[in-house]
Amino acid sequence: MKIAVAGTGYVGLSIAILLSQHNEVMAYDILPQKVEMLNNKISPIKDKEIEEYLKTKQLNLHATVDYQGAFKDADYVIISTPTNYDDKTNYFDTSSVEDIIQKVISINPHAIMVVKSTIPVGFIEEMKKKYQIDNIFFSPEFLREGKALYDNLYPSRIIVGEKSERASLFANLLKEGALKEDIPIKFMNSKEAEAVKLFANTYLALRVSYFNELDTYAELKGLDTADIIDGVCLDPRIGKYYNNPSFGYGGYCLPKDTKQLLANYRNIPENLIEAIVNSNETRKKHIASMILKRMPKTVGIYRLTMKTNSDNFRSSAIQDIIKLLKDAKINVIIYEPTLSTDFFDDCPIISNLDKFKEESDIIVANRIDDYLEDVQYKIYTRDIYIRD
Ligand SMILES: NC(=O)c1ccc[n+]([C@@H]2O[C@H](COP(=O)([O-])OP(=O)(O)OC[C@H]3O[C@@H](n4cnc5c(N)ncnc54)[C@H](O)[C@@H]3O)[C@@H](O)[C@H]2O)c1
Repeated sequence: MKIAVAGTGYVGLSIAILLSQHNEVMAYDILPQKVEMLNNKISPIKDKEIEEYLKTKQLNLHATVDYQGAFKDADYVIISTPTNYDDKTNYFDTSSVEDIIQKVISINPHAIMVVKSTIPVGFIEEMKKKYQIDNIFFSPEFLREGKALYDNLYPSRIIVGEKSERASLFANLLKEGALKEDIPIKFMNSKEAEAVKLFANTYLALRVSYFNELDTYAELKGLDTADIIDGVCLDPRIGKYYNNPSFGYGGYCLPKDTKQLLANYRNIPENLIEAIVNSNETRKKHIASMILKRMPKTVGIYRLTMKTNSDNFRSSAIQDIIKLLKDAKINVIIYEPTLSTDFFDDCPIISNLDKFKEESDIIVANRIDDYLEDVQYKIYTRDIYIRD
């Protein structure tokens, strides 16, 4: 098969690598520096399996900024460009996905387009009507950042938004590249597949919010959060996972996907979905107020990232907490070794960890690690289980 992948971020790159084990893959991106790195077998993102596969596996993978060349002979074009949430329209900005659809229609109208980007419910149907096409369906992506390729090698499930031969063929391409043996595969219409993605991420946000609100209660009432969560989660229906309190859910997907699902609920009765969106804001305000209660002169932010061993801090909760602290006229300094700039959001980046520890009255850490062992008395965290 000849496959083109448009957009080489977490989603596009992991799919491109997965499929290039057995197919000819052209990965198209608008960023020439990314394309050059990929053609030199260097991963633009921190991801153990992506780095390893690029270096050690025989992959039939070429990256390019030339979309004509990438799309013209492709059997499938996989679309994995961004869909940021637009606060003005209260909807995803799907223009980059539409940009690829228009290009494919003009260059190779018979190629089958598979949208992997997260899209609003009803988007595929809208595109079919708007462009009078039928060769497009949605297949949701469930990977975690930092484990992008791993999650495609060992997928929890494969979901394809069409019940057809070309949909089966696509599922088989994903299966063929994976290492897991028994992968649940489900075929459904794209509308349901679009809903699966938004409802899955909103459930994850709900779960994070639930344990965070439990922790807010325990913190303000002087109760032991760990005892409560341990007792609650021993019920096998609840489970002892994905339950570590944090400063709020963040990352590229959960904040925007919950808002998009809420937008899709227009004129449909609900209470929970908007509560999940609002709960995260309440949690961040609570965390900021607990820091302010200690009346620090200088607050040190230990890492902007959300997870340990990550280089990614897109929409991390700590960034909103920094804004709240700055609104309260608190001096904020940041330790973030993945940044080489002097400032982030007007706050000085202190690259020397000892200096950072010395200058901070409080060290605020969403996740703690061994490097903070000697300054435990200064730390403010809600990391109970020392894991993500
Ligand atoms: N990151 C995740 O964990 C994850 C998981 C599941 C689904 N998704 C969804 O997948 C989509 C992509 O997410 P991501 O994290 O891979 O994004 P990303 O920001 O990491 O990568 C997107 C890539 O697309 C490129 N791009 C932007 N506009 C383009 C255009 N017009 N033509 C070609 N390339 C273009 C960018 O240069 C970038 O390399 C989003 O809709 C996201 O919601 C992401």
